[in-house]
Amino acid sequence: MNFKFTKESIEKINADLVFVVCFEKEGEKPVPATLQKMDGAQDLDKIFAGKISQTIKERQFFGKLGETLLINTFGKITAKNILIIGGGKPKTFTTETERQVGGKVTQVANAIKAESVGAVLELGKVHGTSVAERLQAFVEGMILASYSFDIFKKEACRIPKTLKTFLIQAKGNTATFQKVCAVAQVMGDATNLARDLTNKPSNKITPTALANAAQDVAKKHKNISCKVWGLKEIKAQKMGALLAVSQGSIEPPTFIHLTYKPSGNSKTKVALIGKGITFDSGGLNLKSRDQEFMKIDMGGAASVIGVFEALAILKPKIQVEGFIASCENMPSGSATRPGDILTTRAGTTVEVINTDAEGRLVLADALDYACEFNPTYMIDMATLTGGAAYALGELVTPILGNDKRLISLLLAAGQKAGERSWELPIIQDYKKGYLKGPADLKNSGSGSMASTISGALFLEDFARKNKWVHMDIASTSWAEEPNNYHTMIGATGNPVRTLLNFLMAL
Ligand code: BES
Ligand code: ZN
Ligand code: ZN
Repeated sequence: MNFKFTKESIEKINADLVFVVCFEKEGEKPVPATLQKMDGAQDLDKIFAGKISQTIKERQFFGKLGETLLINTFGKITAKNILIIGGGKPKTFTTETERQVGGKVTQVANAIKAESVGAVLELGKVHGTSVAERLQAFVEGMILASYSFDIFKKEACRIPKTLKTFLIQAKGNTATFQKVCAVAQVMGDATNLARDLTNKPSNKITPTALANAAQDVAKKHKNISCKVWGLKEIKAQKMGALLAVSQGSIEPPTFIHLTYKPSGNSKTKVALIGKGITFDSGGLNLKSRDQEFMKIDMGGAASVIGVFEALAILKPKIQVEGFIASCENMPSGSATRPGDILTTRAGTTVEVINTDAEGRLVLADALDYACEFNPTYMIDMATLTGGAAYALGELVTPILGNDKRLISLLLAAGQKAGERSWELPIIQDYKKGYLKGPADLKNSGSGSMASTISGALFLEDFARKNKWVHMDIASTSWAEEPNNYHTMIGATGNPVRTLLNFLMAL
């Protein structure tokens, strides 16, 4: 997207479409919305001799979030169309509102084949949000809504993405606004990269293809390096858990190590660890449902790769290491049997009670390896438990960990990103069941219904004494319900922007 700044008043902005936001009236009964002064809407209404507000009444436009009213200008002003867009109730306004509006404007623009949109930037505080925060969220919404997953469709069935330029009327110094737009673009692109890797099916994104995607990022950017291990090196590393999960598949496992180094020296080092199961059939404990959905089981890994793509451009002053354990979980004559006992890289023995609890196994080896880099913080991301959906639903990511400060930083970063998260407690009593078998640990059967907490309990010790957080994205890395900026059912790229906000704020 090109971002251009102009001093022209709204009727002279040279765009295919200019938009103004209308808020919903407080009160129970919906009433037609009124035009605002701040964003030039009332000026436009004057030029059209009150016809815009008249249309708002006639068409019963209430200003609900994402509601749209499109008016052709037939040459009366420079822009070809005016879009009135609903912002919802003023009381509920947050930066997320901007993200939603940005997404909807982009959808409408592409639907009418507009190449440019224009608007007036409100400079003051709006409900406690600064202009930079609002602009960033709005542009994120635009970039996210520009994404679609249609590479497997015939050309004729794809919606062309015509929108290329955002013309912004802003007074004063526009250099900082330009920077804000650039950051939003990078964060949006990184999210879209993670979405794309996750949306692609398991026959396209194998463990080897996932490693290639990580290497592509490193090839593009001088400040990123990427090392990939195959079966031989993984064996040499004694990653017995990753090997046990992968052994039923004809696809060899990969272990991916990404590094971002800042230009100067940095004491702070963050390790990001991603679950990279490119297909989770359940193994011999074969899933009886939802298998067609299990291409998403590398969503954590996809987020790690997306984050590195953005780090290369945003260049924060900290070091970041990414670790991805990737394989397929398949049933076959060579697959791990329920009851088998494996030895993890850390030397812990694990009795595999359920081959479908494979994520914690591959993560155990990845966490253990990550510890050797002495990270200040360790954050793992994994589509680990179906229980995440029962705990917090589809819109909130459970966060569990051993460091209050790290957790609160991530919660705040998620809030800013429009990726909601909430802390779940790590209840040690639920660990008892894991200790009952013949090995050091069982991989399932904690005895608690709280499977998301149990998952975190399994991982905890593999982070050793480090400050560590686990994000269970099983329910939030995929959206069944499109919104204004996730225009289709599919991957959300969660929690790419949470991590980027967190890393940039460190
Ligand atoms: N990949 C699944 C979790 C999952 C479920 C992700 C639904 C996305 C949507 C994971 O490997 C799994 O199968 N977990 C089991 C663990 C159980 C066997 C302890 C689960 O949650 O049922
Ligand atoms: Zn599983
Ligand atoms: Zn899984």
